[in-house]
Amino acid sequence: MQEDTENNRLTEINIGNTPLRKCAHLSVRFNTNIYVKEEFYNQGKSSKDRPALFMIQDAIAKNKITKGGYFVEASSGNTGLGVVLIAKQLGYKAKIFVSKSCSNEKIEALKTAGASIEMCENSNGLHDFYSTQFRAQSFAATNPNSYFTNQYYNSQNIRAHYKTTGPELWEQTNESITHFIAGIGTGGTISGVGRYLKEKNKHIKIWGVEPNGSILQYFLKHRRTPENPEAFDSIEGIGRNFIPGAFDADYVDEIFQIGSRETKHIALEYYEQTDILVGYSSAALIASIEQHLTKMNFKPTDQVVLLFPDHGSRYKSKLYKKLLKTTNNTKNTF
Ligand SMILES: Cc1ncc(COP(=O)(O)O)c(C=O)c1O
Repeated sequence: MQEDTENNRLTEINIGNTPLRKCAHLSVRFNTNIYVKEEFYNQGKSSKDRPALFMIQDAIAKNKITKGGYFVEASSGNTGLGVVLIAKQLGYKAKIFVSKSCSNEKIEALKTAGASIEMCENSNGLHDFYSTQFRAQSFAATNPNSYFTNQYYNSQNIRAHYKTTGPELWEQTNESITHFIAGIGTGGTISGVGRYLKEKNKHIKIWGVEPNGSILQYFLKHRRTPENPEAFDSIEGIGRNFIPGAFDADYVDEIFQIGSRETKHIALEYYEQTDILVGYSSAALIASIEQHLTKMNFKPTDQVVLLFPDHGSRYKSKLYKKLLKTTNNTKNTF
């Protein structure tokens, strides 16, 4: 029998080294080479396992929490799931503050994983009393032996992608990647991958995608926030009305905006054409290419990587309800 040490338990954690697949359908559609980084192959079924692991390991290494304590996070679901699973594997508990816009599938997955969940009004940042972030911060401040991983401001969020996702993409494309496109929520993915790839080759284009009305595009152009930000369109996982500390504008070339309507439309169309359910923010990447194709100006030789953070099976009730009812499709039970 193996000894129950921290190291043994860490080897059971299955995070990173996810597949990169060429998508024939999108390559033909956009007349270039489109690859998809399939992050739903992480153990918690999303890219957010990576920052969750780095943030937790960092807290443990710095003695911020002892066995049995609570890891606390504010999350639209995916980071929360990452935190819950890893915490359990390492002998800790987890308390997740989730905004009411979170999909039913993610709430169910959190419950099944054994999380203690608290529903909040919004995820508008640390200064809004009703936000997931404020509530998480306040819980950690008032409960001994608890630690707020704070993905929006934790440098381990960027570091996770700088140390793992970036190098994986560089190797998986045989150092030939020309474009990296990802949705922006906390900014950790695009900032970490962007920094790594720019260090390898500064000509690689790093493009972000956010919903209409989100403020990161404005911030990237003007290096300040808009005076009267409008409410942003809701696409789960991406879009913000504040600038997260995990967003590093220095490694991002351009941010494209897209509407939730166009995104939903493309998700359904993609499913009809390929039989594959894509996640909400993944569909936003396809929709934004469709809408901004002329400006993006891909060459047939380009090697374009889209990062799909999670799978469409997490949005059956939000995106695919009608279609799945009529077709009775049992595929995609990822
Ligand atoms: C589904 C989904 N897409 C995109 C993102 C954005 O990733 P990041 O927070 O690294 O910017 C998230 C973040 O939670 C997400 O859950």
